[in-house]
Amino acid sequence: MEKRSSTHAKKAAYEMATTNLLKDQSSSSTKKFLPWIIYALLPLALLRLYFYPLPFPQSAQNQFAQSSPITISSASSSKEKERVDENPCDYFNGKWVHDKLGPLYNGTTCGTIKEGQNCISHGRSELGYLYWRWKPKQCHLPRFEPEIFLQLVKNKHLAFVGDSMARNQLESLLCMLATTSTPNLTYRDGEENKFRRWHFPSHNANVSVYWSPFLVDGVEKSNSGPNYNKLYLDRVDEKWAGELDQIDMIVFSVGHWFLHPAVYFEGDSVLGCHYCSGLNHTEIGFYDVLRKALKTTLKTSFERRAAKNNGIDVLVTTFSPAHFEGDWDKAGACPKTKPYKEGEKQLGPMDVEMRKIEIEEVEIAKANAKKFSGFKLEALDVTKLSFLRPDGHPGPYMNPFPFANGVSEHVQNDCVHWCLPGPIDTWNEIFLQVMKKWEGQSSRTE
Ligand SMILES: *[C@@H]1O[C@H](CO)[C@@H](O)[C@H](O)[C@H]1NC(C)=O
Ligand SMILES: *[C@@H]1O[C@H](CO)[C@@H](O)[C@H](O)[C@H]1NC(C)=O
Ligand SMILES: *[C@@H]1O[C@H](CO)[C@@H](O)[C@H](O)[C@H]1NC(C)=O
Ligand SMILES: *[C@@H]1O[C@H](CO)[C@@H](O)[C@H](O)[C@H]1NC(C)=O
Repeated sequence: MEKRSSTHAKKAAYEMATTNLLKDQSSSSTKKFLPWIIYALLPLALLRLYFYPLPFPQSAQNQFAQSSPITISSASSSKEKERVDENPCDYFNGKWVHDKLGPLYNGTTCGTIKEGQNCISHGRSELGYLYWRWKPKQCHLPRFEPEIFLQLVKNKHLAFVGDSMARNQLESLLCMLATTSTPNLTYRDGEENKFRRWHFPSHNANVSVYWSPFLVDGVEKSNSGPNYNKLYLDRVDEKWAGELDQIDMIVFSVGHWFLHPAVYFEGDSVLGCHYCSGLNHTEIGFYDVLRKALKTTLKTSFERRAAKNNGIDVLVTTFSPAHFEGDWDKAGACPKTKPYKEGEKQLGPMDVEMRKIEIEEVEIAKANAKKFSGFKLEALDVTKLSFLRPDGHPGPYMNPFPFANGVSEHVQNDCVHWCLPGPIDTWNEIFLQVMKKWEGQSSRTE
């Protein structure tokens, strides 16, 4: 069984390599491996940008905020609760529809945004991607309501834990919240800003981000050390887990770092490795590894909080698909300017598998958590809705004004992260709906 699934993982991984990332290319043997090279090199190239320190703006002016004052003062009128609980909406299946309103915030005024995702300020002038709204099949997804979100995290600490996708989602949230209440950056980790915390004095709420691309303990590859990651699948990363006591709500978001070359450990023994020619270990792919990492993470989180008689709210953001279509270093690596239409394109096999593992592990952990009270857990199943947005990535605008001197031979592209503002704002719109549902559940059981 174990053997079969790892063989399957390997096969699917290579399928992904040739079909998903480089679909439109001939596959000469070098090109077959190019995707791994992309995944191995791109993050290194982007790393510096990922953590580029940015000050928070003094005033979070909101150019886009139309005249839509927040009037609702309570997120959970009993009527709303009833509706949410008894007729839950499936927010994760639907389509993108045109929307004249545009985003809540303007990327040129929200100073929290990581350079590489600040597409407008980097000269992206084609702004059609800002005017789409996610329409779930059977219901309506309300526009983000910053005031309600803040009320739901009042006196709480919300932490985003994971890789640069976690940070991307956090920054989207901060920009939207900042349209009504200015956060105060109260903590930042020295060098690369991998760990940051903001305080919203208006609601005594903390929002933070913890860098932990595997969630479990690990050592990232580096220029000075080995050229592969090391993951210890049976123990969590204490950089976040050590502060679990102070966290009320946690969003886990990982995935892309699992594709990189790595050696995997469990206890004292080597379990295997991935893309590790030259090392004398068995290739086991990364699917089972992601599964184990999530299992360890969710189990440990719940057990530690249960030991203190304390519940916790947990959200697992599912895999966010990349959209490389051609050479990653050519101008048109993710050139689309519109969402895919229904049925236009199918999710790649790797996206499908990564998402499936995450959903399954959330379901398993949910069942296990039933024996404790006060634990809420949900998958933020953004894979499909994000896949439909090939137009929402920075592409060449990960760097400022990439075409200022004409189109050059090599242009670095980011077809993994999301422009801010952009489609990732929708993730947080759905997050808010999940929080409302949770709020309804807890006031019922109390
Ligand atoms: C965003 O705000 C800036 C500064 O106020 C303004 O110059 C710019 O035109 C705005 N961008 C958009 C797309 O509205
Ligand atoms: C927010 O963080 C500060 C430290 O920066 C801490 O003193 C405070 O208790 C935290 N508040 C909440 C509600 O977590
Ligand atoms: C922001 O945080 C700093 C450092 O924690 C603190 O000194 C300052 O008073 C805070 N400002 C506001 C407006 O709360
Ligand atoms: C690789 O591992 C196998 C099995 O553990 C061992 O027999 C062999 O000597 C190793 N080869 C090298 C080059 O280390």
